Amino acid sequence: MTSTIDMHCRPATGTPADAYTLGPLQSGPSCCDPEPLIRVENLSLSYDNKPALAGVTLDIYRGCITALIGPSGCGKTSFLSSLNRLTDLIPGCEVEGRILINRQDARAPDLDVQTLRRQVGMIFQKPNPFPLSIRRNLEMPLREHGVRNRSELCDRLERTLTDVGLWDEVKDRLDTPALALSGGQQQRLCLARALALEPSVLLMDEPCSALDPLSSAVVEDLIQRLRGRYTVVIVTHNLAQARRIANYAGFFWVRERAGTLIEFGRCQQIFEEPAHDLTAAYVSGARG
Ligand SMILES: Nc1ncnc2c1ncn2[C@@H]1O[C@H](COP(=O)(O)OP(=O)(O)OP(=O)(O)O)[C@@H](O)[C@H]1O
Ligand SMILES: [Mg+2]
Repeated sequence: MTSTIDMHCRPATGTPADAYTLGPLQSGPSCCDPEPLIRVENLSLSYDNKPALAGVTLDIYRGCITALIGPSGCGKTSFLSSLNRLTDLIPGCEVEGRILINRQDARAPDLDVQTLRRQVGMIFQKPNPFPLSIRRNLEMPLREHGVRNRSELCDRLERTLTDVGLWDEVKDRLDTPALALSGGQQQRLCLARALALEPSVLLMDEPCSALDPLSSAVVEDLIQRLRGRYTVVIVTHNLAQARRIANYAGFFWVRERAGTLIEFGRCQQIFEEPAHDLTAAYVSGARG
């Protein structure tokens, strides 16, 4: 019998949704031979001295999709935000522990945070395009990161919009406001904006939860097609979605008032043979 995880490990092919046409997203290597890209060791985080995360240790594997699950308030967003140092922007937020990304210390005081955020992009629950045209939404970050040549800008614009399946939908209205797009289209534009910077990691914080079911399916399909080429860490409350798309899953829970990682492993193992009673209760819907 073919296991679910083996299926997940193969780069996705085909597209179940016919509402749009995906561009030629190249598949990268599969993630059946896991190699840690991000190593988190003993990560703790507090806001105004109130602990939000305590002692989280886990590896995120290159080219794989890792889902983080757990009830509200258990520190999933805080965890994601610490990976690209968005936590630096929150007054009163203190982080301790080690985060290595591609063997580099992501917490080093002299690290160029702009470069880190280019390498580790983030997608939020609510699509947040800039209140500008579709074109400028993509050109602005590219210019900020040094892409100035007009033909390169045009190429990257078309390539990323094609990758997220938006090119055919928007190519005739690139100079119209991004905020006039539907929620699902806006989220794909945000994904295109992140991809335009050619990150190696994409952090996604409940990227489908504000979308209608059809748009959610389109974005989910797209996330699956990123496997192999990008390392994706996705927070989701939708357990069925985590199960459908993730190779690995981490289950967080609040213990002694701080979020802790209860269990981490292959997605199939977490859902089918959890090692911890709390995980079993959560994934079965009995708790949480
Ligand atoms: N900016 C902040 N200032 C103070 N406390 C915060 C801040 N952000 C989060 N917290 C607190 O840290 C804890 C973890 O929050 P976090 O948003 O990381 O949880 P979460 O698992 O993402 O929850 P949800 O599933 O509801 O999004 C919570 O107790 C929350 O109230
Ligand atoms: Mg959150």
